[in-house]
Amino acid sequence: MSATAARTPARVFSGVQPSGLPHLGNYLGAFRNYIAMQEGNDEIICIVDYHALTSTHDAELIRRNTYEMALGLLALGLDPDKAVLFRQSDRPEHAELAYLLSTVVPVSWVERTPSFKEKKRTQPDDVNHALLTYPVLQTADIAIYKCRYVPVGKDQAAHLELAREIIRAWNVRYGAVFVEPEAVFTDSPIVKGTDGIQKMSKSLGNVVEIFAPEEVIRKQITSMVTDTQRILRTDPGRPEICNVCQLHRFFGDDYETIWEGERTARTGCVDTKRLLADRVLGAFSEARDRRAELAARPGYVEEVLRAGAERLAPMARETLRETHERMGLGGSEAPAAGAPAS
Ligand code: TYM
Repeated sequence: MSATAARTPARVFSGVQPSGLPHLGNYLGAFRNYIAMQEGNDEIICIVDYHALTSTHDAELIRRNTYEMALGLLALGLDPDKAVLFRQSDRPEHAELAYLLSTVVPVSWVERTPSFKEKKRTQPDDVNHALLTYPVLQTADIAIYKCRYVPVGKDQAAHLELAREIIRAWNVRYGAVFVEPEAVFTDSPIVKGTDGIQKMSKSLGNVVEIFAPEEVIRKQITSMVTDTQRILRTDPGRPEICNVCQLHRFFGDDYETIWEGERTARTGCVDTKRLLADRVLGAFSEARDRRAELAARPGYVEEVLRAGAERLAPMARETLRETHERMGLGGSEAPAAGAPAS
């Protein structure tokens, strides 16, 4: 499904880790769709601070980064009158549902998740239990509001596939309560980082941060790796494999002319990077102003997050009630007469 194809109001959910300032990967891979899909749908966007605890154990950092990410999303155009924005830990029902769903999840399913394997490699001294169950909590985030569409980058595809399997397994055992979610991608589902090889990611330190000071953004962009086979200024470039050229596709409609300049060596990599920096700064200048305005309103972000969590309370509680009932938790009028105790 494309973002614009959703004509009737549909339930949309997505989550983002509180990793601080949003970067171009977040925006081009996912946030653009959050903003497009808030029109005419019931959209819920969550800052997943529980998830962040799998890798960050600094309370102050989690709090600050949660604020930063929420502020960034609002500045980029997420509208609290159209979409619900909230903090995961303000709705602890997510954690309970994750536990309940985990009872139908074979350990082998979570052990083979690519992100778990990756974390075992990148944080070998902190392979905590919550890392293993990370995708189950992610499933609960979506399932608790019975959301169907999930705008995400391609790096989340395996988590979404697992979410579908978990929900299917639970529904088969207890009855069709939950909806199988579908990922929704943009036309840039994997944005590469400044190294030109790996996906752009805060933890890899290869980001272009949308709200960093201007000189930092310029530095991040000029540090980008381009076509590694283009050694001399006179060598022809290959825009198809140059990350800077690829990013130009999203910042102006003349990217083919820019690509042609590279191919014919009329322009050099430095020119193309400078132009990209100007365009990125231009594209986000309004958002940067809005961010400054919102940041100057004391308590605004906190108010939005709290109100969002409040709005979701009835839905979260109702789903848990239904889940308890199906799973045999809580009291009932009377045990079925004559049922043998075993
Ligand atoms: P997170 O915080 O890593 O990223 C937030 C969103 O940004 C997308 N993204 C990218 N897309 C393309 N190219 C990139 N280089 C890039 N970097 C980030 C991600 O795909 C994501 O959509 N596990 C999730 C958070 C989560 C969630 C959920 C998502 C928790 N519960 C429920 C959807 C539904 C994560 O860590 O995203």
